[in-house]
Amino acid sequence: QGLIFSGIQPTHGIHLGNYLGALRNWVTLQESHRCIYCIVDQHALTTLQDAAQMRRNIHEVAAAILASGVDPKRSALFVQSSVAAHARLAWVLNCVTPMGWLNRMTQFKEKAGKHRENAPVGLFSYPVLMAADILVYRATHVPVGEDQKQHLELARDIAAIFNRKFESEFFPQPEPLILGEATRVMSLRDGTKKMSKSDTSDMSRINLTDDADAIAQKIRRAKSDAILGISFDRENRPEASNLLTIYAALAGSTRAEVEREYAEASFSDFKGRLADLAVEKLAPIAGEMRRLLADPGYLDSILEDGAAQARAVADPVLAQVHELVGFPRP
Ligand code: TYM
Repeated sequence: QGLIFSGIQPTHGIHLGNYLGALRNWVTLQESHRCIYCIVDQHALTTLQDAAQMRRNIHEVAAAILASGVDPKRSALFVQSSVAAHARLAWVLNCVTPMGWLNRMTQFKEKAGKHRENAPVGLFSYPVLMAADILVYRATHVPVGEDQKQHLELARDIAAIFNRKFESEFFPQPEPLILGEATRVMSLRDGTKKMSKSDTSDMSRINLTDDADAIAQKIRRAKSDAILGISFDRENRPEASNLLTIYAALAGSTRAEVEREYAEASFSDFKGRLADLAVEKLAPIAGEMRRLLADPGYLDSILEDGAAQARAVADPVLAQVHELVGFPRP
């Protein structure tokens, strides 16, 4: 059977990439599996250090997850810092993870930039906390977008090195689930760059809070090329390929089908159809988010309840880890 775990940072500007690469799959998986979903505020603290903004973002992301269709009656949804076992296991894992492994992480290199000496230590050990998130539930499957693949491989290595050092088969190897047509959604302004909340241009992404007009406008103004017909060719037609992928993912069809349908279409016709489809699928999510955000007490009660469910799984695992390493039982 297995247990599903995944996480998302509470950042302002949760977008179509998060939705297609992750949230939508979270929703599908809860039909068949026990799922635990986490808003990782401790990860966000590595880059976001403003208390009021952090609080707002936690509610915004909780609303986005619920509006996307995660059902709190089936899945546990909670905030990372309210389940202490994550940070406590992370410390233990920090003590078995070689620095060399973290030095290879491309996301750290990107985020730390040129002045690595000034980067917070938490940014460096970020993937260790991520491994703890997963392993503290002994989760077997982790639905993520393609950009998290390297972190997932590291989590597998950390599980293995812990097992080796403490002569146990305690942690399973968590499998990444990189599902659907749109595992790496690209910027609408530059098809070679990932769609991201850190892009300074709001036109580069569709936010889940965008209303119908904003969604349609962003798609109509998305970068295109001068070739007739829509075809998939990441090398030579990155923008066409990205829009085609988004279309396939939103329509629930395949790239090949969409390619066939629009083989002869002009870019502007294709964009018109994509705009309609995106508005139909995404505008209701923004509406539902607004409704949920008007009731922060409800959101808090869901998160509290999720945290209690999460603790019930994580605390006994942490107790066994303490046993294995020789700490007193927590
Ligand atoms: P985060 O918050 O950056 O992103 C959340 C999820 O969205 C996916 N994603 C994308 N998918 C497709 N195209 C894109 N342009 C795109 N941008 C983001 C991400 O792959 C992710 O699945 N480190 C993680 C959060 C985390 C986590 C975990 C995930 C912390 N602990 C444990 C899984 C398991 C992160 O920063 O995701």
